[in-house]
Amino acid sequence: MLGKLIDRNYLESIGWRGIRQRKLHLEELLRKAIGLARSAGMFVRIVDIAAGHGRYVLEALDGAPTAPDSVLLRDYSELNVDQGSALIRAKGLGRVAKFVRGDAFDRASLAGITPRPTIGIVSGLYELFPDNALVRTSLAGLADAIPEGGLLLYTGQPWHPQLELIARALTSHRGGLPWVMRRRTQAEMDQLVESAGFRKLEQRIDEWGIFTVSLATRAAGAGSHVGIVVDRESSHEAGVRVLESARKLKEAEARRERPHL
Ligand SMILES: C[S@@+](CC[C@H](N)C(=O)[O-])C[C@H]1O[C@@H](n2cnc3c(N)ncnc32)[C@H](O)[C@@H]1O
Repeated sequence: MLGKLIDRNYLESIGWRGIRQRKLHLEELLRKAIGLARSAGMFVRIVDIAAGHGRYVLEALDGAPTAPDSVLLRDYSELNVDQGSALIRAKGLGRVAKFVRGDAFDRASLAGITPRPTIGIVSGLYELFPDNALVRTSLAGLADAIPEGGLLLYTGQPWHPQLELIARALTSHRGGLPWVMRRRTQAEMDQLVESAGFRKLEQRIDEWGIFTVSLATRAAGAGSHVGIVVDRESSHEAGVRVLESARKLKEAEARRERPHL
């Protein structure tokens, strides 16, 4: 009984409610990214570079505007790779999705992902690492991998009301040191993403202001591209079409939101 109460308290805590809302926001923006990529005539090839079990990616596929061409989930933890692979099998997605072990801060490994992903996801990772140089390396790898017009979903964590609880209660991924979340203001996070070569399109945030989810597009000729050959079509044209589709979608949404007078 007491255990159940403690569990309930833990699960209902504001931090966990924020995490559940972030999952919904990720799923919403991932479905949107899939629609944008498809309407720009691109393949829909998704990569998540630190996927956990990848549940939100796999669940977003139900109700997506179109089926993806491929889904690549990566994580550093062997356990997550095993459990995520089991989830892929349980959902019958073995033909389109796979889970492999990979380091999200290894630029060359990200740049070499084949086939080239058109939608990248990085969620819940960068706040574990205070060092912006690491984040820049990871984003540069994503910018190398994703062709112009491709899309990037990234999360932010501007503040957290339970920092001390987390620092004291959870084991650190950094050799037993207290796990102090690295909060970044949204401006700091957006600048890191922008200087890697992406242009932000939109953002979601939960009602407590803890977790953000943003969508950006790989900008034409920007960032630290290493010149991998793009298959299928002119990446510049794809980029222009993604921006155009995003603008039209936004206008349509604004029209729906406007009250009928
Ligand atoms: C807080 S979890 C987020 C999981 C999932 N992306 C989400 O949003 O729910 C952080 C994940 O990053 C993974 N991770 C940590 N360091 C990593 C690295 N260097 N490369 C790849 N994954 C890493 C962990 O194994 C863990 O699954």
